[in-house]
Amino acid sequence: MTNSMWGGRFASGPAAIMAEINASIGFDKRLYAEDIRGSKAHAAMLAQQKIITEADAKEIARGLDLVLAEIEAGKFDFKVALEDIHMNVESRLKDLIGEPAGRLHTARSRNDQIATDMRLYMRELCDQTDAAIADLMLALAAQASEHAATVMPGFTHLQVAQPITFGHHCLAYVEMLSRDRGRFADARKRLNESPLGAAALAGTPYPIDRFATAKALGFARPMGNSLDAVSSRDYVMEILAAAAICAVNLSRLAEEIVIWSSAQFRFVSLSDKFTTGSSIMPQKRNPDAAELIRAKPGRILGAFTALAVVMKGLPLAYSKDMQEDKEPAFDALDAFALAIAAMAGMVSDMKPNPGPMREAAATGFSTATDLADWLVKNLHMPFREAHHVTGRAVALAEEKKLRLDQMPLADLQSVEPWITQDVFNAITVEASVAARTSHGGTAPSLVKEAAAQWLKQLKGI
Ligand code: ARG
Repeated sequence: MTNSMWGGRFASGPAAIMAEINASIGFDKRLYAEDIRGSKAHAAMLAQQKIITEADAKEIARGLDLVLAEIEAGKFDFKVALEDIHMNVESRLKDLIGEPAGRLHTARSRNDQIATDMRLYMRELCDQTDAAIADLMLALAAQASEHAATVMPGFTHLQVAQPITFGHHCLAYVEMLSRDRGRFADARKRLNESPLGAAALAGTPYPIDRFATAKALGFARPMGNSLDAVSSRDYVMEILAAAAICAVNLSRLAEEIVIWSSAQFRFVSLSDKFTTGSSIMPQKRNPDAAELIRAKPGRILGAFTALAVVMKGLPLAYSKDMQEDKEPAFDALDAFALAIAAMAGMVSDMKPNPGPMREAAATGFSTATDLADWLVKNLHMPFREAHHVTGRAVALAEEKKLRLDQMPLADLQSVEPWITQDVFNAITVEASVAARTSHGGTAPSLVKEAAAQWLKQLKGI
């Protein structure tokens, strides 16, 4: 049997393998709502331009609503023989309303239709992603506000470097995520143009109104070039790139949560809701959600790479290669949405443990820089010299197995005779963080303020 939609010049139907490699309905059926929305806008415009009658347009709209209802009720029979979502919808429309259905495809092609569907889908995805990232930011900002003064070690090279606050650490991710939101907002702005009416590739002789369909579908304007309209997928790549960058950011937090929740660190406790047990070791609580979030960038970057390779070197305009944009993109973006939601849940449920954090913050001579700064400030020593003196004090403390703030004054004075008792006010972990009041620094007063600002902005008050 030849294809009922395009089989006019064909004497036989496709080989089974041909049908299988060609069909996209298995994965593009998720575009049903966008497809129907686009068709309704197109039909209304055709009637407005007197290309079809008002009566036909009404029938088409009514029929499309019926199709939509059938799909949403799970009563629609998707047929592989009809290849894709466009022809499945149109064929069912014909069953339901008869002849007027055949007029819907006037002045359009599946090439501008799929481009329209995908842009609508990706635009919605940008909006959902924006809200999801905002939720995660809110969870982090709430932890930051509560733990603005909770001291923990700050690391460089994963070695204890200087004390920071847990709130400050959380807000670092809030900043990153806010740039991620910016990337999605930016991609959304660029993709929000309508390809509908570009037809197969060259435009159409019918007196269509592309501005009207663009407006009806919420696009800012029609795309300016019909070839570009049907053959660009850069917007999908852009969204995948934004998702990949955000997923990489999430993976860093995920990795930190894995480290923090280990028995060696005990910086945070994860809730039952976001951990799993072991089938053999009864004592285990595994941070699986964090581990899976840590792993997601592979899949998302993979999807970006897959699509970039599909598009590379493709001549204009449409080629069927472009059908390969969907599976990796849908898979990756589903995984991405899950990762953000899981991270938001995990972050709001997790309980920071100030005791172990403070204890760790005081190890590794974390306030050595504060000792050097004290020498600069009080003895007017050049910083380079203060660095040397402090190095000698650290070596001595190491030898005596003491922390810097546990060293007898006499020992410190054996390194630098002018050191006074006042130095002990500067080299506790609390003093260290409190002193870091430079813009963007870790001082609890600044963190409190920054967290409040973020909370206000995220809650829209
Ligand atoms: N399923 C196709 C895709 O995803 C829709 C466009 C088909 N166009 C065509 N001329 N066969 O790209």
